Amino acid sequence: MTQQEAIHRRNGALHIEGVSAASLAETHSTPLYVYSLGALTGAWDAWMAGVAASANPNVKVHVAVKANSNLGVLSLFARLGAGFDIVSGGELRRVLAAGGKASDVVFSGVGKTDAEMSEALQAGVKCFNVESIPELSRLNQAASELGLKAPVALRINPDVDAHTHAYNTTGKKGNKFGIDYGDARAAYAVAAKMGNLQVCGVDCHIGSGITDTAPFIAAADRVLDLVDILEADGIPIAHIDLGGGLGIDYGEGDAPPPTPEFVKTILNHVHRRGPRNVWFEPGRSLTAAAGVLLTKVEYLKPGPVGGKNFCIVDAAMNDLARPAVYGAFHRIEAAQDRAGEAEVYDVVGPVCESGDWLGRARELNVQVGDLLAVRDTGAYSFVMSSNYNTRPRAMEVIVDGDTVHVVRKRETVQQLLAMESVLP
Ligand code: LLP
Repeated sequence: MTQQEAIHRRNGALHIEGVSAASLAETHSTPLYVYSLGALTGAWDAWMAGVAASANPNVKVHVAVKANSNLGVLSLFARLGAGFDIVSGGELRRVLAAGGKASDVVFSGVGKTDAEMSEALQAGVKCFNVESIPELSRLNQAASELGLKAPVALRINPDVDAHTHAYNTTGKKGNKFGIDYGDARAAYAVAAKMGNLQVCGVDCHIGSGITDTAPFIAAADRVLDLVDILEADGIPIAHIDLGGGLGIDYGEGDAPPPTPEFVKTILNHVHRRGPRNVWFEPGRSLTAAAGVLLTKVEYLKPGPVGGKNFCIVDAAMNDLARPAVYGAFHRIEAAQDRAGEAEVYDVVGPVCESGDWLGRARELNVQVGDLLAVRDTGAYSFVMSSNYNTRPRAMEVIVDGDTVHVVRKRETVQQLLAMESVLP
């Protein structure tokens, strides 16, 4: 099912598959994250279609858990046969709780702790993406204490500009990520000599929200050039990991190529230089468009003449941080058409900061009590939420046809306070 089929309007009312946004909000209240099972599955199928259309069948796709780590969502991907890309011990536990296998897990991240390394080694993850020589030493030590060999790929920094938000650029010189391309050969020589490491691959990830294929091709070439050098040095490379990073069309006029075409282009490019096992770690392109955040209009606050009108809703920057943090654009629409004229509003939350906005200068025809849908909030949305202003985090549901699965209950203030204590 495409995202357009899954999240659509029928008789002026927004529906997620067979269920209206209005009935979801009535039953479960707001703010409410809603994910379409059909759209999640469709996004996975699009990746698989790209693989099937390419010259290379030796591909493993690992879902970047950080983009949407809800157990319900992860359990769907586990059933679809996905691997998982994790960046913490917590994410490893989530994958296992969701029915994923450690042997399908890649452990990324620039600051893995000893405890996280040991836990992942004991669980049997299939590869550690290592980002520095000190990390190689720590991992070698952790593996030796357990009498194990740690499978490793080095994440190299290819110095490729991904042309995305500065915070989402990770493969340029000066970013904290990866091993400098010029130092990579020497780092592999060090890794190959460590007794409790098994070198298995080369990894890179150049950023997130990328809408152009060219930087991925440039990074793949850098990786393949390095693989040639390493194999000539006598270090066999069993796989290359090209990371995640494919963006989505948030409706600002900057659309990436369709996923199947993107995947096929990359795989065929790699294949031209010889057969390779290729791994990916996509997050956003699998989950973003499958989610909406439903929120209720609490107040309409008219501005002074020539000034701004504010539409104050019950979701805030603690529920959806992307606008405040990155200036990110999300489409916002009324869940139900109504007669009358639209007004231009800044859509804001109740949190006590001017950075608490969800959308600026949006044309909306709404009244107090109406429901709004903030679109494309299936990735980096609930996962980045917080309890700022002592606001319990939102609830999450997955809609499958006419069925609604509650996959995260609404947090209560009581639960928040239970974590704390007054002084004796
Ligand atoms: N692999 C690694 C090592 C990563 O760091 C990331 C994302 C991914 C894979 C998945 O990338 P994706 O396919 O989702 O682009 N909070 C930001 C996005 C941060 C991305 C961090 N790394 C946002 O809301 O835009």
